[in-house]
Amino acid sequence: MKNQEITPIVKYRKDYLPSAYLIEKTNLVFELNHNETIVTTELNISANDLSDSSKAELKLNGEDLELLEISINGEPVAEQDYATDPESLTLNNLPGKGFILKTQVRIHPEKNTLLEGLYRSGKMFCTQCEAQGFRHITYYLDRPDVLSVFSTRIIADKKEYPQLLSNGNSVERGELENNRHFVEWHDPFPKPCYLFALVAGDLDLLEDKFITASGREVALEIYVDKGKLNQCHHAMESLKKSMLWDEQTFGLEYDLDIYMIVAVGDFNMGAMENKGLNVFNTKYVLADVATATDDDFLGVESVIGHEYFHNWTGNRITCRDWFQLSLKEGLTVFRDQEFSSDLNSRSVKRIKDVQVIRSAQFAEDSGPMSHPIRPDSYIEMNNFYTVTVYNKGAEVIRMMHTLLGVDGFRKGMDLYFERHDGQAVTCEDYICALESANNRDLKQFRNWYSQSGTPEVVVEEEHWDESTKSFNLTLSQSCPVTKEQPEKQPFLIPVKLTLMAETGEELSVCYEGNKNTEFVVELTQEKQQFVFTGVDCPVKLSLLRDFSAPVKLERHLSDEDLTFFMAHDSNAFSCWDAGQQLMNRVIWQQYDALVKGDSIEIPSSFVDAVKHLLFSEKDPAFIALALALPSIGTLEADREQMDVGVLQQARIRIRKHLSKQLNGQFKTVYENMRMQAENSEGSKAAVARSLANACLSYLLDNVNDAVLELAKAQYDNAQNMTDELAAFALLVDSKSHLQAEVITDFYKRWKNEDLVIDKWLSMQAMFGGESALQRVSELWEHTAVVHTNPNKVRALVGAFTMNIEAFHNADGSGYQWLADRVIEMDNINPQTTARLVSVFNRWKKYDENRQTLIKAQLKRILDKKDLSKDVSEIVSKAYNI
Ligand code: TRP
Ligand code: ZN
Repeated sequence: MKNQEITPIVKYRKDYLPSAYLIEKTNLVFELNHNETIVTTELNISANDLSDSSKAELKLNGEDLELLEISINGEPVAEQDYATDPESLTLNNLPGKGFILKTQVRIHPEKNTLLEGLYRSGKMFCTQCEAQGFRHITYYLDRPDVLSVFSTRIIADKKEYPQLLSNGNSVERGELENNRHFVEWHDPFPKPCYLFALVAGDLDLLEDKFITASGREVALEIYVDKGKLNQCHHAMESLKKSMLWDEQTFGLEYDLDIYMIVAVGDFNMGAMENKGLNVFNTKYVLADVATATDDDFLGVESVIGHEYFHNWTGNRITCRDWFQLSLKEGLTVFRDQEFSSDLNSRSVKRIKDVQVIRSAQFAEDSGPMSHPIRPDSYIEMNNFYTVTVYNKGAEVIRMMHTLLGVDGFRKGMDLYFERHDGQAVTCEDYICALESANNRDLKQFRNWYSQSGTPEVVVEEEHWDESTKSFNLTLSQSCPVTKEQPEKQPFLIPVKLTLMAETGEELSVCYEGNKNTEFVVELTQEKQQFVFTGVDCPVKLSLLRDFSAPVKLERHLSDEDLTFFMAHDSNAFSCWDAGQQLMNRVIWQQYDALVKGDSIEIPSSFVDAVKHLLFSEKDPAFIALALALPSIGTLEADREQMDVGVLQQARIRIRKHLSKQLNGQFKTVYENMRMQAENSEGSKAAVARSLANACLSYLLDNVNDAVLELAKAQYDNAQNMTDELAAFALLVDSKSHLQAEVITDFYKRWKNEDLVIDKWLSMQAMFGGESALQRVSELWEHTAVVHTNPNKVRALVGAFTMNIEAFHNADGSGYQWLADRVIEMDNINPQTTARLVSVFNRWKKYDENRQTLIKAQLKRILDKKDLSKDVSEIVSKAYNI
């Protein structure tokens, strides 16, 4: 019976069966108390015509529930007709095709540290039901293809919980005995139980309204902890922009009369799209200039958008089963990316999104957790809310958008909503809608859904033929095999490109009968030639513009070519990418030299290219991004194996060199940008700050009294969190006498602002080299670091894993510290702990010594008694590769 921990249960996509029973109506009554909550549930259940197993037993999911009562059609169920185990309730001898099942259970939200199901965050009650949290609330068919109309009555103390919220519209409220009251909610839209939400608390409320395109008025409400109202305005503005954007871009209107958002301090993820009642991590709601950085503001905007866009892509049309998660997540990430691109700089947004793919998704796809965007199996579903499903999923949608064009894509979306509104569907249904609306066959494209791994595209040949005035390009593709998929079929890879003259001019040429300056060619074979005609002069090929496919591109370009693209490519991504490749090259050269105990002479042409960039006329935000050397996470994708400590040293050396060589230039641009930031507002000021702070960071790479003073002055005089935090981070990293001073000062200033304290922790964990271990060990015991709070744990432990010197210390102390935290945290919050331990998934990339050290820690974790499913799935996969 209890060998479940030894042989974990694997769920397979191919095993899908429709539910034998449906639940037309769900009536819930919650009685909230300090020491227990009683949930009374009435379900109108009927046999499912689509399923031939209607006579079968009814098996409801349920975990950590104490069953108090059970009846069918008003009659108590006989003992021999039902059975419970730790994960379910099974009923036999059911009366006919339809009946009402009533259960009553006792649960303990006040003890729930999983932050799944019903739990407490501070003084309030809240829920998180995706993916399978509802089974912690009541016995139910906890699967996304069972859609039901919910009515929810919440009963609680009136003074402690004046606000009682759930999905849909409030239909009744009233007073009860003992200072209690109730509110009843009704959600007219049938939904799966993962979209259920409940909140009870004493909160501040920001109210606004939105008039939809068809003239309906929607009440907008944001609920936050008392005293935080002034930090909600940006979230409210973002919500209104989201609503307008979805109407204008996809013709999608909101459908209820009320849209509520509640911000909670304890949350496993960013936010949750529960119908009509989103629950958000405070990090993605609260923002004002004093406490939030410019990036935080963008984060709030995009997550508010993301959850709002789920109302159509996720809620009105939901997933048939959890293997289809990318159906809603890939598509909704794509939609939030487009939203942010339309509101801010599209190029900058694209570059940041590509950075996520290259630094995190490529790593996932080449490690033990590699899976297709539509996985074939899982042990713990929570482990599949990944950069692959979300971000690669969005890239896959983006490729179809590229292939079909804006109008074709919109037609496909329209048909998708027309066909499937109100249903729980599959990724396949989505692709079919795009195909039908565009009369186009996407058969081969489906390989992006079924195959994992990062495809590699190699430029085999590119040359201009003077006699025929043609340009020939030969590309090949391959995909590394993965455990589950020993053989890979070629993908349909859209490759966006432009031919440029050596002057930089974009040439109008012919391809397959069309004349244009930019083409999307389709690489479908293992090796394929593309011929462009009407090419009158030698050309430079701008390839994979906009990162038109999530692939690794191998191409031999000279340093001169890269400098050319840096200077002339009108495509911001390609221009940025050329610079990154140049930097990449120098870092790896330095690395190879360092491994041999040697060092390289950094070419002055490299320094010149950076200087050129620094003074270019481009968007300062772009320049700031382009100045940054590729991250260690991104560099790791380049080689099979490396000494990550040496790689970090190589990277630092290049930075120091640039810092020395361009000291005066960084100083000048820093001052210009500071001035521009002070004399402008909004995004113009933010953009100037980003470049100013990028320059300041280079300046601090060679510490001396003057630059320390500069950073300290910025810290002291900062008018916003962006400048304050940038200077703070650099001073923490400077290892100077100012380090301790600002750490103390920053805490004093911000000790009452939780989200700012998270930043205080992160900066100390991430920066300051090896000495960070000492600090984080002490901070782990700090009163501010509440171990049940995921934001705090991520701020300290998560940030520490990004500190290369300390985390990857060759003595293994960093790995050991993480493993200690994982073992400690696994009992408290497995979901968040599983995410933290996932950094170990990269272990094969490192040198023998570090591999041995990490494996030893993985083993230690596996040896822990009662290890959670979440952590054990990740760690055993990592250990057994
Ligand atoms: N559906 C949520 C989103 O994409 C993700 C999410 C929120 C989630 N909370 C979760 C996923 C808890 C798993 C577990 O916005
Ligand atoms: Zn989502």
